[in-house]
Amino acid sequence: MPPPPEDDGSSSARTPLIPPTPPPPGRAVARLHPLPLLVAAAFAASYHLLVAPAPSYYRSLFLSLGSNDTAAAHLHALTLRPHLAGTEANARAAEHVVSALSSLSFPTRVVPYSVLLAYPVHRSLSLSAPGHATTPFALVQDTYPGDPYAAVSAEAVPTFLAYAASGSVAAEAVYANYGRPEDFAYLAARGVDVTGKVVLARYGKVYRGDIVINARKAGAAAAVIYTDAKDYAAGEAFPDGPWMPPTGVQVGSTFKGVGDPTTPMWTSSEGCERVSIPEAMATDDMPGIPALPVSGRDGEAILQLIGGDVAPKDWQGGDGSPVYRLGPGPAVLNLTYIGNETMATIQNVISVIEGKEEPERYIILGNHRDAWTFGAVDPNSGTAALLELAQRFSELQKKGWRPRRTIILCNWDAEEYGLVGSTEWVEENRAMLTSRTVAYLNVDSAVYGAGFYASATPQLDELLKEASKQVQNPDNETQSLYDLWMASDSSSMIKIGRLGGGGSDYSAFVQHVGIPSIDISMGSEYAVYHSLYDDFVWMEKFGDPLFRRHVAVASMWGLVALRLSDEEILPFNYSTYAVELEKGAIDINKRLLGVPVSSSPLQKSIAEFKRAALQMDSEMKALQTRKVWNPWRNNPLKVRDLNERLMMTERAFTDREGLSGRPWYKHLIYAPSLHDDYGAQVYPGVDDAIQMAERTNTSESWRSVQHEIYRIARVINQASLVLSGGLT
Ligand SMILES: *[C@@H]1O[C@H](CO)[C@@H](O)[C@H](O)[C@H]1NC(C)=O
Ligand SMILES: *[C@@H]1O[C@H](CO)[C@@H](O)[C@H](O)[C@H]1NC(C)=O
Ligand SMILES: *[C@@H]1O[C@H](CO)[C@@H](O)[C@H](O)[C@H]1NC(C)=O
Ligand SMILES: *[C@@H]1O[C@H](CO)[C@@H](O)[C@H](O)[C@H]1NC(C)=O
Repeated sequence: MPPPPEDDGSSSARTPLIPPTPPPPGRAVARLHPLPLLVAAAFAASYHLLVAPAPSYYRSLFLSLGSNDTAAAHLHALTLRPHLAGTEANARAAEHVVSALSSLSFPTRVVPYSVLLAYPVHRSLSLSAPGHATTPFALVQDTYPGDPYAAVSAEAVPTFLAYAASGSVAAEAVYANYGRPEDFAYLAARGVDVTGKVVLARYGKVYRGDIVINARKAGAAAAVIYTDAKDYAAGEAFPDGPWMPPTGVQVGSTFKGVGDPTTPMWTSSEGCERVSIPEAMATDDMPGIPALPVSGRDGEAILQLIGGDVAPKDWQGGDGSPVYRLGPGPAVLNLTYIGNETMATIQNVISVIEGKEEPERYIILGNHRDAWTFGAVDPNSGTAALLELAQRFSELQKKGWRPRRTIILCNWDAEEYGLVGSTEWVEENRAMLTSRTVAYLNVDSAVYGAGFYASATPQLDELLKEASKQVQNPDNETQSLYDLWMASDSSSMIKIGRLGGGGSDYSAFVQHVGIPSIDISMGSEYAVYHSLYDDFVWMEKFGDPLFRRHVAVASMWGLVALRLSDEEILPFNYSTYAVELEKGAIDINKRLLGVPVSSSPLQKSIAEFKRAALQMDSEMKALQTRKVWNPWRNNPLKVRDLNERLMMTERAFTDREGLSGRPWYKHLIYAPSLHDDYGAQVYPGVDDAIQMAERTNTSESWRSVQHEIYRIARVINQASLVLSGGLT
């Protein structure tokens, strides 16, 4: 094992793109227009304006303080042992976070919840076929010679799929490609009966919970999900290369809901109302059948014994794989899974840097801590970035910085089981968060590899772009992160994802409450995801050998936070939002050609929103211009009103009833796709209704598409009113 990096600060790589210049004395005055003495005297009354450096000074200072050694030291400490949610090891990891933040003098507390988690008690899987001896699978991920984590890897949870139903199934195997609805539809069309069978599907295109649920809906009695070498082992396997070893297994949750399954729609506070565990396990969001994940090697062994028709070309494996056939049989899989669904205590860590002028306005930064195994990429590269960033904030404080608004640092637990820690906290604090939160800034895994990736609600697009121009590309000193980001797309358009997917802790903030949010990372995928090999060695060898990518993510994250916390007028731009709404409407329109549905209510609402956004832009400019040329401070109530409208406009996209059949999802513009929890959708309600109407093609089903269009038009109208601050 490599020794933990020393953190004496002396060897830190400090790599400012823009070296900070200390403010010249009296800078605030020097910037002003010539003034009557009277005015100068009035100014002197606000002592801090004269002596406090401008926010931009602290931002430059922040950028100059990045330390790769600090990030590496935290990552190393956090990933010494596997630390699954609800375990003693994860409570120890929480202590590391608490002590790191407390030692920076930020008031820090643990917010615990008792929630339903799942652990494997017994697993077995064997393969047989006529003429073949029954082969039991070991279901173990191998360590390698010299693995510094070999001993502690025994503490890792045995490979399993959380919340799978307990039971035993012995039945013929059917191969179902990626387990999507279209894959099952293809099997049905080819006359392959899935009823009562064990489905073998491969990871890669949709959320694993959807794979198992799709299999159950197709009639399967159990499911096995494997890692296909084609998708996860395209090169040398770990530890020689970054790819998944043949015995590597992707572990994970199969719960499709969010939060604690025993408290649907409300929080898991002490003594609260709960549904019983059997009831919670019986909902449609649960897999409902036994299921296990297996390695690439085991998956291939099963495929070798599946007969029947040859599967289509895009269902096949890579070079060197056997020919994949559809089945059913003659391979028989005998699978037993016994899980323990049990109440466990989780710990969110919450740390507060109180704002000076508007302490009741929140900028919230969040990352989760719990991991399936060691979690070096997922999620502790993000935790390391959070702690490194906190260290820089503390240094700013020593230099006199106080944020204008309150910054809250959150380290969530049990994200892996279904965004549990963040969801329970957001549900518990919903009313306060609704009235006070300016933005939520999420980082799950900070570093997977090279390249910069960002998603956002669209009013934050411009801020992200501006911030990325000030952060150095960690892999090329002559470039900014912006240049790197631009280079990722040949169309010379910045690619910004949206936050409709259910993939991480922004979900409750955006989709339940309607808080402007971002999610950023370097790299976006890695082959050893959720396997035993997601450890410090992998990160040091392949993910981020100099830990400069960690620093770049922390710089970007902190810079966005500083701008949101310190600028008098919130750096939001709703014209960008209008453009996104329009793009979504164009897509919807294409799908409505020749059907009896009109999108004109939507078009009209977007046109109105565009007007409101333009008007807001000019109001913002007026206030900003006034600030530069006028010695008097802007009327704080006027500024407050403008900021309030900027902050609350996103809330207006939510609807009390939520999406049809999915009432927790209140946001009508962004929510997960119905058939892939990872898939992001614009106008998810309309999308669901169109998919249904396309299947059934009844006039009633098209009427419900029309209804959904009216619903989104209504929330967009609400958003326009909030943005323009007027009543009808
Ligand atoms: C399945 O395996 C279990 C042991 O793991 C065994 O007891 C059972 O008999 C097997 N079932 C069939 C049908 O082979
Ligand atoms: C399930 O977990 C609970 C709590 O950790 C434990 O007390 C119980 O013994 C476990 N049950 C089984 C069958 O392992
Ligand atoms: C770094 O960026 C510069 C400017 O974009 C480019 O010319 C150069 O090739 C890059 N260097 C590397 C090593 O990629
Ligand atoms: C930090 O960066 C410096 C040079 O930029 C490098 O020498 C050092 O090894 C890095 N630290 C770690 C932990 O990678």
